[in-house]
Amino acid sequence: MDGNGRWATRRFLPRVAGHKQGVAALSRCVQACIDRGIGVLTVFAFSSENWNRPEEEVSGLLELLVLSLSGEVPRLKSNGVRLHFVGNRERLSDKVQAGLRQAELLTADNTRLVFNVCFNYGGRWDIAQAAQKLVNSGQPITELSLDRAMALAHVPDPDLLIRTGGELRISNFLIWQAAYSELYFSDKLWPDFDSAELDKAIAVFSSRERRFGQTSAQVSALKREPTPLT
Ligand code: FPP
Repeated sequence: MDGNGRWATRRFLPRVAGHKQGVAALSRCVQACIDRGIGVLTVFAFSSENWNRPEEEVSGLLELLVLSLSGEVPRLKSNGVRLHFVGNRERLSDKVQAGLRQAELLTADNTRLVFNVCFNYGGRWDIAQAAQKLVNSGQPITELSLDRAMALAHVPDPDLLIRTGGELRISNFLIWQAAYSELYFSDKLWPDFDSAELDKAIAVFSSRERRFGQTSAQVSALKREPTPLT
């Protein structure tokens, strides 16, 4: 969700005002995903590296997180959304940690949309914590065991990864899980991201051929194979 800061600066507003608009855009995006029958949405809200931002912005983002939880969780709950927070919680205050736990508990029975909010998250952190878990329990490190020890083991790998704000980088987001994701880079700043842009990304995704290491001919043959009747 890149571009909040620039959205605010262009309007001579403090950066935190951009993050506030970012929350509104996120809320609309969750609804758009529900409307389209999307099962999993994972967003990058705060990276392990974002602690290095000015203190005012970091505390603004933490405050916004707590505020958004109280404002949004009742609606998420009634809309069938299950919230998961993904990332290292150790550095977060007890109050924030309790808020995250409560939001997860309140929405734990929902099944319509799994909504992962990556907060104090980094793809490298995730790989390292997964490896450490395996070492601690004496398990061999394999692709499968690592995959199962990852913080996002409860959802399949993403089909489509969207980055807004015009930068052409992954910036330590889902670096393990996005190995075969289709990438879509949007010039829109996150607060301006809307359902029309989401539909554009989905249309581009649908036009791509996903080969997962196979040849185009193999993929076409697989598509032609009749589904066996059971
Ligand atoms: C990157 O844009 C965005 C962030 C670091 C924060 C993303 C957070 C939200 C959209 C709000 C939702 C968050 C919570 C608390 C649930 P940037 O600030 O790097 O923008 P810039 O590249 O234009 O400076």
